[in-house]
Amino acid sequence: MAKLIKQNNNLLKNVGIIMDGNGRWALKNSFKVSEGHKRGVNVVRKIVEESVKQDIKSLTLYAFSSENWKRPKTEINAIKKLIINAIDDQSQELKEQKVKLRFFGDIDNFGEKIVNKISKVESETNCKNSRLDLNVALGYGGQQDIIEIVRNVSNQILSKKLKANDIDKKTIEKFSMVPVGDIDLLIRTGGDKRVSNFLLFQIAYAEIMFIDKFWPDFSVEDYKNCLRTFKKASRRFGKRI
Ligand code: IPE
Ligand code: IPE
Ligand code: MG
Repeated sequence: MAKLIKQNNNLLKNVGIIMDGNGRWALKNSFKVSEGHKRGVNVVRKIVEESVKQDIKSLTLYAFSSENWKRPKTEINAIKKLIINAIDDQSQELKEQKVKLRFFGDIDNFGEKIVNKISKVESETNCKNSRLDLNVALGYGGQQDIIEIVRNVSNQILSKKLKANDIDKKTIEKFSMVPVGDIDLLIRTGGDKRVSNFLLFQIAYAEIMFIDKFWPDFSVEDYKNCLRTFKKASRRFGKRI
């Protein structure tokens, strides 16, 4: 067994995280839900720093799903404020760390203020040789993404810019709003074992880890444990090895 473990030193390029459990963390600690989200932002900062240290190529975070619009207005407004504050507080540090920040999803729904902030921080952090690509899903849903891809690809075919037979994996990735390809490792905190409409196409061969801790309690050590477990996984991709 030890030998087998030694042989596997999987290359970890693309990590995705479903940062779940802020609300339950707040309830458990007698705080308002918004406090849970606030603590969650602090954890993001630490996990980004560690991802840079670990030479991970991209980190894709699920911050707000298309279904999260069904939440109370007060909670959504608190999240909007936190997004603005997080961008203001962290953009300088991200630039210094050479982190390229990208947001994807139905960003327009968040209003002009956030749209403008996002386009500013994206252009400010748009460095050529980034150390880490940090992708944040905002108002994102994997099914909606696939529907939009089908619509756009169909239009390309109708206008004869694309042949149906030429559609391959690369075509789907090109038309997807997700700025990353195959995810190697997907982590979900909060204890639930589901993907809740996150990167459906991109997680085809991801190692999936469900962590029994609320996101505000997720530590750098917990993250390192996930990375260590990933390195030891036997990734067969359907082959007999
Ligand atoms: C995840 O935490 C953050 C968002 C969905 C915005 P939750 O707010 O879903 O926390 P729980 O799952 O209710 O504990
Ligand atoms: C997934 O968590 C979305 C984010 C973490 C942003 P949810 O709390 O929205 O997922 P469900 O409702 O438990 O499936
Ligand atoms: Mg949740």
